[in-house]
Amino acid sequence: MIKAYAALEAGAELQPFEYDPGELGFDEIEIDVQHCGICHSDLSMINNDWNFSSYPIVPGHEVIGTVAKVGTEVTHLKVGQTVGVGWQSGYCATCNNCMEGDHNLCSTATATIAGHHGGFADTMRAQAISAIPLPDGLDPTKAGPLFCGGVTVYNPLVQYDVKPTDKVAVIGIGGLGHLAIQFCNAWGCEVTAFTSSDNKRDEALAMGAHDTINSTDPAAIAQAQGRFDLILSTVNVKLDWPLYLSTLNKKGRLHFLGATLEPVEISVMQLMGGQTSISSSPVGSPAVIAEMLDFAVRHNIEAHTEHFKFEEVNEAIARLESGKARYRVVLSR
Ligand SMILES: NC(=O)c1ccc[n+]([C@@H]2O[C@H](COP(=O)([O-])OP(=O)(O)OC[C@H]3O[C@@H](n4cnc5c(N)ncnc54)[C@H](OP(=O)(O)O)[C@@H]3O)[C@@H](O)[C@H]2O)c1
Ligand SMILES: [Zn+2]
Ligand SMILES: [Zn+2]
Repeated sequence: MIKAYAALEAGAELQPFEYDPGELGFDEIEIDVQHCGICHSDLSMINNDWNFSSYPIVPGHEVIGTVAKVGTEVTHLKVGQTVGVGWQSGYCATCNNCMEGDHNLCSTATATIAGHHGGFADTMRAQAISAIPLPDGLDPTKAGPLFCGGVTVYNPLVQYDVKPTDKVAVIGIGGLGHLAIQFCNAWGCEVTAFTSSDNKRDEALAMGAHDTINSTDPAAIAQAQGRFDLILSTVNVKLDWPLYLSTLNKKGRLHFLGATLEPVEISVMQLMGGQTSISSSPVGSPAVIAEMLDFAVRHNIEAHTEHFKFEEVNEAIARLESGKARYRVVLSR
């Protein structure tokens, strides 16, 4: 039996929960979980904000641990190796998206915490191709957040061929945003941090932002008119998107990473004149995760973490909910 923490219904506190994972699949591994980051998506899934949670839900999709068992057909991972798993823990591997390397776009990918039990547990199962070995030089205690938050903000830099001369803005300096600042700076870009928290401004500059703007001050935002080539939004709330669009340079892109169900109301005419794009993307493929980890090691990119014990999971979730975490809460053994 796997010992985990689960919410039994929407919005419930987590409680100890045991489940029988059945026989290990031929293509699966079992991981002894050492650390697990808490992403805002865990909170949204616990609360069924997106209407596809199933209960009991075992959250946790920034998982770091050691391989405890390997399925009969798994040849590339060995027992004892340290690996990480993110939002997706399995792919069909045969659809066109998978065949093209876009596993994160696989229609039947297994979401680690939807219809599958996640990393708030002593052990977790995952398809072996979704588990990425940690490169030398990466601190396992701080690596978990790279597997969801990190790859989510890194992936657009790859997908859209972002140039080192580009001016990039990051809206929301939380778990995703503080990593986005570091990745965009190391990519060579000029980075502006939009934050609603005045007390994050100095820290954003220290993490690699060249400038900060109050994300909720319309006059301050308006002053950045025509400035950015790319905006990465990591907020989970609706902001004044037409106003943010006005801060884009010609051919600029407003890219949504933060998840909201609220419609984005934008006039086509506001997009047309500048050949402006709006877009969104989910996490990143296993190959992009592996590349991102190497890039993070080379550029000393690291999550700023606050650690709680697995038994303190409800306090840890409350800390994330409070908005006071700097910048990612991680459960550690
Ligand atoms: N696309 C994907 O694949 C993907 C992957 C992972 C997560 N997500 C989503 O990304 C979002 C962020 O996740 P996270 O873990 O980074 O969350 P987080 O740590 O809570 O950070 C969100 C940040 O948004 C800002 N914010 C919150 N409320 C705000 C408000 N009312 N007005 C203005 N700014 C506000 C805050 O930054 P400031 O204090 O700087 O204002 C906050 O730190 C979530 O919606 C999550 O579900 C998407
Ligand atoms: Zn996540
Ligand atoms: Zn597929």
